[in-house]
Amino acid sequence: MKRYLIITFGCQMNVHDSEVLGGILSSIGFRPASSEEEADIILLNTCSVRKKAVDKVFTKLGRLAKLKRKKPGLILGVVGCTAQQLGEKIIKRAPYVDLVLGTEREFGIADLIPRVEQGEKVVDITMAGFSPEPPTGCVRRGSDFQAYVTVSRGCNNFCSYCIVPYVRGRERSRPAKSILKEVRELAEKGYKEVTLLGQNVNSYRDPDDARIDFVRLLHLVHDVPGISWIRFITSHPKDFTRDLAKTMKELPKVCSYLHLPIQSGSSRILALMNRGYTKEEYLEKIGWVKEEVPGVTLSSDMIVGFPGETDEDFKETMDVVEKVRFDVVFSFKYSPRPFTKAAELPDSVPNEVKTARLIALQRRQREIQIERNKELVGKELTVLVDGVSKRDEKAVSGRTEGNKVVNFKGGRELIGEFVRVKIIRAGPNSLYGERLE
Ligand code: SAH
Ligand code: SF4
Ligand code: F3S
Repeated sequence: MKRYLIITFGCQMNVHDSEVLGGILSSIGFRPASSEEEADIILLNTCSVRKKAVDKVFTKLGRLAKLKRKKPGLILGVVGCTAQQLGEKIIKRAPYVDLVLGTEREFGIADLIPRVEQGEKVVDITMAGFSPEPPTGCVRRGSDFQAYVTVSRGCNNFCSYCIVPYVRGRERSRPAKSILKEVRELAEKGYKEVTLLGQNVNSYRDPDDARIDFVRLLHLVHDVPGISWIRFITSHPKDFTRDLAKTMKELPKVCSYLHLPIQSGSSRILALMNRGYTKEEYLEKIGWVKEEVPGVTLSSDMIVGFPGETDEDFKETMDVVEKVRFDVVFSFKYSPRPFTKAAELPDSVPNEVKTARLIALQRRQREIQIERNKELVGKELTVLVDGVSKRDEKAVSGRTEGNKVVNFKGGRELIGEFVRVKIIRAGPNSLYGERLE
């Protein structure tokens, strides 16, 4: 029996694409491998959002080259965003790679494996007319109670720093009918939580029925019996409406959690980033959410050191950190990316300055995070348990509706269950609780 291993880098879209790829490989007779040594085919599902992400791919390939020397029949494939970005160049740099498939070709892998097995090197990064409909019939999901569901693929926003529109193609929404079919099937299988996925879910529009926008879609998903929690990522501030904030309040299954990337607090930089909103507009939208959904968990993405970012601009970012008091911020140093508009500008902020800004931001955010988490001490919350605690094998770990990690004493049998927990301690990244009877 042949075995496959998929190593995933990057965002939730990639994580979910890997689940689909696993399903496709299973459908042609492969079984999952428990180690690299055991695998007959290893796929790297790659990210290229920053240069570091691409470097990681080549570091990993370098290690796998050694394995391939010991086991010449091993098929090494590269799929996903770096595959799309570099195509043939991957094989130039890593000649032992057998297969390179772009983001709109990777789901066609089943037909190509026989050719690779014949010794042919296959590279296909064509992008055209790929449907947003994943082959959902055979997905091999990583969990049997939490599931990702694609609502759209690709992105049309062309933020000036971002490679995603070039490696993922134009935005295509998936028909609500097939989204709902997938959610219903998940509910029937006992899934409890779904996360709706898209680069910008707020611009969702049913291709078969223009009246169904994202708010309407949330209502339809909410009507599916069986699913208890609904999450969605990512929201784009320019398309985030008051109506959506209200919907989050009105629909009890929609979790009180919003990831709303701001990228920069400086309106001048936001304009250069082509984000389509100002600092004030962003803060106004956050105000709606806080008003409609009291106690909502808020997270964001921020980039420091965009070309021309001054100390003044950075202060504006820090001001947003103070004003919003996010629960989590994912912050990154600007990395120039091929194809993008910003890459034409000089990468003018010295690396030491980028590092200093990143450290300052993360240090302050960490303090705020501890304070935010401490506000939850004494509260009784519902946790969907998703695994054994990393630090203590007699404890389990899960997430609250607000997406906070909670550890508490309990056994494996709780995995996949909703449990009421009283929070007794709080750290910067997680909470510690006690199970309530
Ligand atoms: N569609 C999502 C996610 C995009 S990628 C969104 O719009 O938010 C995830 C994050 O990577 C982005 O939010 C941004 O903060 C960061 N990012 C994207 N391009 C980058 C670049 N060139 N340099 C540094 N960070 C980048
Ligand atoms: Fe990139 Fe902007 Fe699209 Fe997000 S919205 S994927 S940051 S171009
Ligand atoms: Fe995601 Fe990275 Fe691609 S963030 S869309 S895997 S470039």
